[in-house]
Amino acid sequence: MNSLHALIDQARADFARAADAAALENTKARYLGKAGLITAEMKALASLAPEDKRARGAEINAVKQAIERALQDRRDAIEQAALQAQLEAQAIDVTLPGRVADRGGLHPLTRSWMRVEQIFRSIGFDVADGPEIEDDWTNFTALNSPQNHPARSMQDTFYVDVDDVHGQPLLLRTHTSPMQVRYARMHVQRQAAASPMSPIKVIAPGRTYRVDSDATHSPMFHQFEGLWIDTDVSMADLKGTFTGFLKAFFERDDILVRFRPSYFPFTEPSAEIDMMFESGPLKGRWLELAGSGQVHPTVVRNFGLDPERYIGFAFGSGIDRLTMLRYGVTDLRLFYENDLRFLQQFA
Ligand code: DAH
Repeated sequence: MNSLHALIDQARADFARAADAAALENTKARYLGKAGLITAEMKALASLAPEDKRARGAEINAVKQAIERALQDRRDAIEQAALQAQLEAQAIDVTLPGRVADRGGLHPLTRSWMRVEQIFRSIGFDVADGPEIEDDWTNFTALNSPQNHPARSMQDTFYVDVDDVHGQPLLLRTHTSPMQVRYARMHVQRQAAASPMSPIKVIAPGRTYRVDSDATHSPMFHQFEGLWIDTDVSMADLKGTFTGFLKAFFERDDILVRFRPSYFPFTEPSAEIDMMFESGPLKGRWLELAGSGQVHPTVVRNFGLDPERYIGFAFGSGIDRLTMLRYGVTDLRLFYENDLRFLQQFA
């Protein structure tokens, strides 16, 4: 009897020694398994006299239940310990610095582009956007470039190997000047019979393409076109507008501007616009910035307007070049290489 009760403490001690669930289940077999000590006690009941069987049976059962409870307690303890260990192993170190997302920034050309729009909007210009794949008529013919003009040679742009619905050859536009034609014609159509029509006053920034590639030329680059047409717009307005723009763009007044006679098919007279800083690293050098001129009567006619009545100016300038000058960038290609060491300087 004593030895039967002693089994409880013995089992507890054995269970306590089992370090994990598998070891515990093995130990359990020693008491509760088919060949276990409790099972042997049960079998031994058979040899007892009937009057002793009941009391002994109840006693064995009580011991068996106590051992099962001890087993369950140990199971719970092992599970709890495993959970605790896992929590400790996977603990988050809240003192580690977080992983911060890199901050994006605007590309320097985008900054200039936005700047150009903002300055011209502030003096009443509309901003227009148009197709980079342009038709031959709008890119050349409407702008008074005769069929065999050198600017139309195959080397000067990328031709697209399909015709549009009007049977026009398509090409990547070589300048933003076709936007003069698109915008003016749309404006004239909208104005219908208004007399005089409201002035055309627009800039059109965008990508342009040429077969050209070196430190100062890229096959794709950015221009913005300007157009101002009314009944009385003169070259003096062009000078004032562009000079004012340059001073606003570079945020300085010590800028000299000169208009150098030139030739473009779509303007007459035509002028190259040059600029000189009066101080700083580029001091004293004339820098070529834009082509410009009074819009040619043939082009005004192609706008759908009477050149005897409407007159004005146009210009085309390079956003990439203005950006190089503003930030002191000496190689145009840097804008297109996506080197973060370069781009981060503008973020
Ligand atoms: N389209 C010319 C070019 O890309 C630039 C230009 C010259 C635009 C004179 C104009 C202009 O509007 O009047 O070289």
